[in-house]
Amino acid sequence: MTRTASDSSGTVMDGKSFATIAEMAKKEAGLVLPEGKMTMVQSRLRKRLMATGQPNYESYCRFVVSAAGDEERRQMISALTTNVSHFFRESHHFDILREKVLPVLLQKARNGQRVRIWSAGCSSGQEPYSISMCLHQAAPDLFTRDILILGTDIDPVILDKAQAATYSEQQISGIPAEMRKSYLERAGTSGQYRVSEQIRRVVRFRELNLLRDWPMKGQFDAIFCRNVVIYFDADTQASLWPRFRQRLGDGGWIFLGHSERISDSAMTLFDPNGMTAYRAAASATR
Ligand SMILES: C[S@@+](CC[C@H](N)C(=O)[O-])C[C@H]1O[C@@H](n2cnc3c(N)ncnc32)[C@H](O)[C@@H]1O
Repeated sequence: MTRTASDSSGTVMDGKSFATIAEMAKKEAGLVLPEGKMTMVQSRLRKRLMATGQPNYESYCRFVVSAAGDEERRQMISALTTNVSHFFRESHHFDILREKVLPVLLQKARNGQRVRIWSAGCSSGQEPYSISMCLHQAAPDLFTRDILILGTDIDPVILDKAQAATYSEQQISGIPAEMRKSYLERAGTSGQYRVSEQIRRVVRFRELNLLRDWPMKGQFDAIFCRNVVIYFDADTQASLWPRFRQRLGDGGWIFLGHSERISDSAMTLFDPNGMTAYRAAASATR
């Protein structure tokens, strides 16, 4: 039986269109979309049908695979990504950042060396801003040195939100009260809050697809890639671990989401050091 998923507008996604979209999502962004996600995919792409004026999913697919559909492919991937994020999500990583990573960063910074942290798959910015708040609270001195927190994501729409750094009351609820007082400012009268300049100043955002080239120069002291590779298949995940290792100095840290693990095949490159936290093994060849 051919599977379909209909929506309230009566436009039906057929199995062939779903297969085309799933194949593109995998090729372009590494996203795995099993058939059980057909209804979700349909509801996420409904607005793209309207935006492009395509009458149904079959014609949308024809458009998006065509040369003229280049920009739409970007928008399609943006619509298909899951962008859920929270401030201080998986808070144990911030304890490690403060207690184990920060002393090394401070030493480097005071010796005049660069401090670099990468939030890979940063979504709407809560992760890099949490890192910045955590470091500022523990060591404001660090912010007078050469420090940069890079936030990257494949999704240009979510990066605009990250750049705006403006969040609702509900979104800021995960920020400890003391930090809310120090690091947030009211934005207008609509119950929105903006991350303060001293926290934003060290954070930069760039569009970057983890499956493609990583143009950044130099290495990072820590990489947060949390709740991102969970959307990739095992082969795509396996291809990323050596690349992350290359981007870390010996002993550098990588933090993953709670249901993510470094594949066994890459465990010669990293040493586990806490819950879903790893350090780059010194013996690795770069
Ligand atoms: C669920 S969010 C995680 C946000 C944050 N790291 C956290 O844990 O709260 C996953 C993010 O990964 C991004 N993403 C998905 N595929 C990607 C790819 N191939 N390259 C870069 N980012 C990707 C999505 O756009 C999304 O913003």
